[in-house]
Amino acid sequence: MTSAARYLAATIPALAVLGLFVWFANWIPQTRWEPPQKQAITASMTPVQLAALGETVTRQRGCLACHTIEPGVGVKGGGRGPNWADIALRRAQGVPGGQGNLVDYLVEALYEPGAYLVERYANIMPAATAAPAKLTYEEMVAVVDYLQSLGGRPSVRIGDIRRPPGAAGVGAAPAQAGLPKGETSTDPVAILAGNGCSACHSLKPGEVLVGPSLDPAGLKQGAAQRGISTEAYIMESIVAPNAFVKPGAVAGVMPQDFGTKLTAGQLQALVAYLLSPRGGQ
Ligand code: HEC
Ligand code: HEC
Repeated sequence: MTSAARYLAATIPALAVLGLFVWFANWIPQTRWEPPQKQAITASMTPVQLAALGETVTRQRGCLACHTIEPGVGVKGGGRGPNWADIALRRAQGVPGGQGNLVDYLVEALYEPGAYLVERYANIMPAATAAPAKLTYEEMVAVVDYLQSLGGRPSVRIGDIRRPPGAAGVGAAPAQAGLPKGETSTDPVAILAGNGCSACHSLKPGEVLVGPSLDPAGLKQGAAQRGISTEAYIMESIVAPNAFVKPGAVAGVMPQDFGTKLTAGQLQALVAYLLSPRGGQ
């Protein structure tokens, strides 16, 4: 054997093993959990087809952590945000002094929730195009159709409604875009310490204190069990801890009022931080 051949003979098995590891590492997260992020939405879809997709989108992206759909109780349901039942009937004329028709009103409510505040509700809703929901333009159209279908008739197609403000940079927009003015304390580490989260939750993978560890893998697993995106799952777990309790965890221990104590900007900061790999600290 030449020395080159000997070298090759020695390296090939090592490379094969390395390749196997790389393949395995890539394979695990994909088979274990495929985030329900992408809906196949095409320009030829009818408003009714889009509305059906829009319903799924609102469920998977955490809108229902705050909104309810309760027939017969008007705008004030049991949620942290307005009740959606019959929203299209209720908002058929837009809003006083603001957007004059339903579609423009819904579009504004999604892109700039703070522009018009529903009476008796606080400015806590993150823009639908920002974290945690991160709706694409096509998903926005589907959600508008879905909301129109609640008490009305879906009517918009892809291209009918305006693109989000600053559309070019939406995907890359920082998690805190849309932060209400005057809000300062959005350092996630300070929020975790200042609200007692760290007393009940470790960030070390698998370490259970009073509640489960908040490492990204564990959160992804919870999201998979719940069938929603990891961002939406984290958001829901903080604002509505009892909406879903992981098998083995105890319900009712985590304070139920973080949704009213933390601001939209703080929630966004927490979601972004808990989602990111933190080196197992
Ligand atoms: C953190 C809680 C929260 C989340 C999450 C949230 N919203 Fe809201 N939403 C609110 C609140 C509070 C209001 C009322 C204040 C305002 O108008 O901004 C509101 C208002 C609205 C309105 C206007 C309702 C009306 O009766 O006129 C629409 C439409 C809406 N949200 C859609 C959505 C959609 C779609 C999502 C998911 C992409 C979503 N929201 C996620 C809290 C939330
Ligand atoms: C008194 C203890 C306690 C405090 C304080 C607390 N939690 Fe929890 N948390 C729990 C328990 C117990 C659970 C599991 C049961 C449940 O889902 O309600 C939980 C669940 C969670 C989950 C879902 C975890 C998973 O893997 O499914 C998240 C995310 C979370 N908490 C974040 C927070 C954040 C952020 C704070 C602070 C703003 C906080 N918690 C404060 C006890 C606490």
